[in-house]
Amino acid sequence: MNEHLSILVTGASGNTGSALVTSLLAQGAKVRAASRSGQPDTQDNLLATSVRFDWFDPATYHQTLQGIERMYLVPPPGVLDPLPVMMPFLTGARQAGVRRVVLLSATVIQRGDTGLGQVHDALPDLFPEWAVLRPSWFMQNFVGQHPHAYSIREQGILRSATGNGRVGFINAEDIARTAAHILLSETPPNRDLLLTGPEAISYDEVAQIMSSVRTNSVRHQHVSVDELQQLHIDSGLPPEFAEMLAQADHLIAGGMEDRVTNEVEAVTGTPPTSFKDFVTQYCS
Ligand SMILES: NC(=O)c1ccc[n+]([C@@H]2O[C@H](COP(=O)([O-])OP(=O)(O)OC[C@H]3O[C@@H](n4cnc5c(N)ncnc54)[C@H](OP(=O)(O)O)[C@@H]3O)[C@@H](O)[C@H]2O)c1
Repeated sequence: MNEHLSILVTGASGNTGSALVTSLLAQGAKVRAASRSGQPDTQDNLLATSVRFDWFDPATYHQTLQGIERMYLVPPPGVLDPLPVMMPFLTGARQAGVRRVVLLSATVIQRGDTGLGQVHDALPDLFPEWAVLRPSWFMQNFVGQHPHAYSIREQGILRSATGNGRVGFINAEDIARTAAHILLSETPPNRDLLLTGPEAISYDEVAQIMSSVRTNSVRHQHVSVDELQQLHIDSGLPPEFAEMLAQADHLIAGGMEDRVTNEVEAVTGTPPTSFKDFVTQYCS
């Protein structure tokens, strides 16, 4: 069954997309991996067909979509109002015969909210089969290309305005496993899914766990929302994004991310990774 399905993965070089390509290939699907370079990003993913795709270059849409039945969408990064950018691609996808769409969103974004919430809202009218994944914050933020990861690597400091607020951090690979199941299953969810890891932990606990696993210790430095916003601006982020990220910490401090769900295990049959196991695996 799976080898007959043609599945498009956008953001195929990113945290969730690259793991999704690997997972879909392992399950026998025919995968088209889309990125701006149009080149495979890992040895594992050489079996996928690569295609050049740029949200801001509609000339890349036709080749990206031809023959595709199901697709995974990572929204254009850094765009506060993505609907006008994404809509031409979505309508092109419908015309090309795409039936199922899995959109990567976030816990903080509800259907209809300004920004990506409007894309969420548009999906059910465009496609008969859909899902919106709303993951909590990624564990990869502490080890990858995120500002947290840089300050941890370079200074051993994790700066946040999250106070004692807790977050159900999730491994991007668990998001990818969930997306793979949804893309390959007989029945589409046609709903949004709040995805978290197995436990909600504070940034103090993040620092403690990282310190217990790594050779170098990590300290959580509590800063105010305004200080954090300025730090993001100083690191080169556009002011509106710096504000959005700082406000996200404020929401965490207020308890908004202090929750866990069982969606990953319910969909995939396997529990999500704990933060300790994630860091141990990453550091080994
Ligand atoms: N980090 C978190 O804690 C968190 C939490 C919840 C939700 N999210 C959401 O997760 C999404 C990011 O997903 P991710 O971490 O899997 O991706 P990622 O690692 O941030 O990578 C971004 C991907 O987008 C692609 N890309 C960049 N510009 C593009 C363009 N103009 N056209 C087409 N593709 C483009 C990149 O590919 P190329 O550069 O190769 O083209 C890359 O594969 C964001 O929407 C974010 O809001 C993140």
